[in-house]
Amino acid sequence: MNPQAPQISSALIETTAAKRMSSAFDLVARVSAGSIGPVNLCNIACAGLMIMANNYDQKNIATMEMVYGKGYLSAGGDAEVADLFHELDARGASVLDLGCGLGGAAVSMIRDLGAGHVTAVDIDSNVLARAEELVKINGLQSRIATRLIEPGPLPFDPGRFDIVYMTAVACHFEYLLPLFTEIHRVLKPSGTLVGRDWIKIACNQEYTNWDNFLREQGLNFFFAEINMFSHAMKASGFLDIEFVDKTETMEALSQKALDQVNGSLKDALLEKLGGKGYEECVQWARIRVTALSGKGIGQYRFRARVPG
Ligand SMILES: C[S@@+](CC[C@H](N)C(=O)[O-])C[C@H]1O[C@@H](n2cnc3c(N)ncnc32)[C@H](O)[C@@H]1O
Repeated sequence: MNPQAPQISSALIETTAAKRMSSAFDLVARVSAGSIGPVNLCNIACAGLMIMANNYDQKNIATMEMVYGKGYLSAGGDAEVADLFHELDARGASVLDLGCGLGGAAVSMIRDLGAGHVTAVDIDSNVLARAEELVKINGLQSRIATRLIEPGPLPFDPGRFDIVYMTAVACHFEYLLPLFTEIHRVLKPSGTLVGRDWIKIACNQEYTNWDNFLREQGLNFFFAEINMFSHAMKASGFLDIEFVDKTETMEALSQKALDQVNGSLKDALLEKLGGKGYEECVQWARIRVTALSGKGIGQYRFRARVPG
């Protein structure tokens, strides 16, 4: 999750609107040219609205990395990546890391899980630059290709990947159907989607506090209920759809992050963010714990397979 709030300028909002428009037009053009598979009109309309994330500035990125560990913008680090791949053999696989952030998971998939090649994509050039750095430090340039993409249809041919990995990314999409339709398209027959994301459990006070807080920060999150994930995956053609509730694990990790923000990381965060920024960071970490423990939000691991 994102402990810091970038300021969204009007220039960014304009760029955002322009990107939405261009991706919608682009998709229509590609459907007309027959370069992408069967997509219905609803998907075309929705894909134009595939939402892009907040552009993290360097200070935000550094802060999030302090809390979540080298290479990560979400909780759990390498251990959570390994957990997601439990009983899923990544050895030799061609993987798409969609919304790769700082590249920690891409490195872990190669180094710890034996993936053959990872294509790590993101729409944010700031985070991607950090991912590239991490890939170089680990000497994995021949095994991990980083790529800046535009929001909208994925720039890959159908049936390109064995596995699509995606953590804490779907929460940035207003519409899940075009997202999973695209993921299904780029997976090979029998390919697997694996990931973890925030989900809305109940529209209670804890959820509302969390959602309002993020909106006040100008962030664009869309928390869907688990049945919305399930319906969108089914409608996209996925089979063997599985969910595992990871909310308790995330609550424990979020409590640990809050303790660190209040304790061992306090001086470093104060220095980086100043007093006001630090207070916001504490507030954010606290609201997240409350939203998880109050069962307003949760996190689920998901897995689904393209028919063979
Ligand atoms: C919370 S971060 C998670 C990053 C990484 N998966 C991790 O777990 O550390 C969400 C990431 O998704 C990226 N993102 C948002 N919308 C995207 C899109 N349409 N396509 C690709 N990446 C996107 C953001 O730029 C950001 O890096």
